[in-house]
Amino acid sequence: MDIYTANEQRHESIPCRRCGNSGLFLPLVSLGLWHNFGHADSRPAFSKMLFHAFDRGVTHFDLANNYGPPPGAAEENLGRVLREGLARYRDELVISTKAGYPMWPGPHGSGGGRKHLVASIDQSLKRTGLEYVDVFYSHRPDPGTPLEETVEALADIVRRGKAIHAGISNYEPERAKRAIDLLREAGAPCVAHQARYSMFARTPEQALLETLAREGVGMVAFSPLAQGLLTDRYLNGIPEGSRASRGNFLQPGQVTPEYLARARRLNAIAAERGQSLAGMALAWLLKNPGVTSVLTGASSTGQIDENLKALQHLDFSPVELAAIDEALA
Ligand SMILES: NC(=O)c1ccc[n+]([C@@H]2O[C@H](COP(=O)([O-])OP(=O)(O)OC[C@H]3O[C@@H](n4cnc5c(N)ncnc54)[C@H](OP(=O)(O)O)[C@@H]3O)[C@@H](O)[C@H]2O)c1
Repeated sequence: MDIYTANEQRHESIPCRRCGNSGLFLPLVSLGLWHNFGHADSRPAFSKMLFHAFDRGVTHFDLANNYGPPPGAAEENLGRVLREGLARYRDELVISTKAGYPMWPGPHGSGGGRKHLVASIDQSLKRTGLEYVDVFYSHRPDPGTPLEETVEALADIVRRGKAIHAGISNYEPERAKRAIDLLREAGAPCVAHQARYSMFARTPEQALLETLAREGVGMVAFSPLAQGLLTDRYLNGIPEGSRASRGNFLQPGQVTPEYLARARRLNAIAAERGQSLAGMALAWLLKNPGVTSVLTGASSTGQIDENLKALQHLDFSPVELAAIDEALA
């Protein structure tokens, strides 16, 4: 097989934002490997998606130890694509991974304990074949373990050069603030917080966005398309092969008449802006400069291209914003 050579214009199409007040930059649109990068998925298809994304300027790929199926498969598959040629561009890539959800049997197979985090980063490096990741996240808070222990493990992983930066995910604002303070004291400042944020999931607007902006920490918005609900994927039924058809985290039962009415209202607003619903949903998040990157998923190169079109129209008039709020009410 020919070794991959990247498009020379790759850095010209997507602007990057600084992650909080750190020296790390993320493209406005990033790609996550939660779905579609497991061992049952098509290897040519996911190689193509990663090469295509990078060619278009998507320089940030997000993983977790448990992404698959089976858990670990997405990291192994990224490792394969790196060996197919992407590794030549390692210094341009921002690769993140996480630990905290169940990964192996026994009490140390999940959580925020030092043993879980330290063992997990070693496993992730082995699976991907990387010498280091760019961001290593505590994937979720662990109320049973002292936050100091979680933070000290993250800081140690950074000090040992296994990750360049530390991050947190799914932490509620108060705990996030404490973790950010402790990481700063430990000399491994928190660069990013990953949180679920979309038109359909607006909890971060209550306090988290403000906390992160104040603390100079980047906000990476995951599931920005509500797993496909904020696209035209389900407007005319549940297509075969879609995430909802597989009942994999997105259930067919979520495609209700109420959802469809709302999505159709949003789709009409997007059409008036000359955008797809997916494009508008991503632009709507990125209008906030505190959102460093929208962390999308995709099952085809066409979806990646569609989502990058969001960048062509990022501004909203007050009338459009009011219409969106009304459609969501
Ligand atoms: N930190 C955390 O706890 C956490 C949790 C969840 C996710 N994440 C991260 O966030 C990433 C993204 O999450 P997500 O996959 O839920 O994101 P998403 O962007 O909300 O949903 C992606 C899915 O939407 C559909 N889609 C995407 N673009 C489309 C388009 N233009 N038109 C029609 N359908 C489209 C595809 O579904 P089909 O497969 O049906 O085509 C795709 O797999 C993950 O990979 C992971 O890295 C982090």
